[in-house]
Amino acid sequence: MDKLLLPVLLGTNRRKRNSVNPAKWLVSEMEKRPEIETRLFDACDFVFPQDDYGQGIKDQFPEWRDTIIKADGLVIVAPEYNHGYSGALKAVLDLLLKEYIHKAVAFVGVSAGPWGGTRVIEAMVPMVRELGLAVTFSDLNFAKVQKTFDAEGRLLDPAFEQRAKDFLDELVWMATVLKWGRENVSSKHHPNQTG
Ligand SMILES: Cc1cc2nc3c(=O)[nH]c(=O)nc-3n(C[C@H](O)[C@H](O)[C@H](O)COP(=O)(O)O)c2cc1C
Repeated sequence: MDKLLLPVLLGTNRRKRNSVNPAKWLVSEMEKRPEIETRLFDACDFVFPQDDYGQGIKDQFPEWRDTIIKADGLVIVAPEYNHGYSGALKAVLDLLLKEYIHKAVAFVGVSAGPWGGTRVIEAMVPMVRELGLAVTFSDLNFAKVQKTFDAEGRLLDPAFEQRAKDFLDELVWMATVLKWGRENVSSKHHPNQTG
């Protein structure tokens, strides 16, 4: 069986971001699973023009464009900024539209406070729905993230291993079902795959 392509997007370009630790750790967990192919995209690596935005400039980001075209789903690592998401994350997502349709998305919420980014995830759900993404219902929440990893980025709380397994099991299920659907059930949104 083909692997599921499930890239991870680190959704902030803040210089001292803590979200880099959960993002890298989760990628390493995903790489252990034989049914998953992944790679990390970092909002830092997207250099945007000051005077343009959106799908009109997607060809300036061919790696992102081509990976999402092939992808079966997406993991978004979203730090909570004033109960919302970063502008950098939204700018990356807004580069594409039809490329996301009928694919799975799973959220990793990250916060300094005690709620683990639950509010940023809730804020993102209506937005990703408009992108055509289907949201899983098993989030991964890193509360007090600055205390959850050490200075070298090593995870300090082993409870996250089971949480990540449950999170990935659900994402794999959703991505598998949606892949089958895209390949076998006709839709005007993906005519090339259904004939
Ligand atoms: C602009 C800004 C707004 C923030 N708002 C919140 C917030 O609403 N709730 C919270 O728990 N932490 C908040 N934080 C702290 C971040 O959640 C914290 O820095 C965490 O590590 C994730 O963000 P980071 O990857 O940029 O470090 C905020 C941080 C910034 C930079």
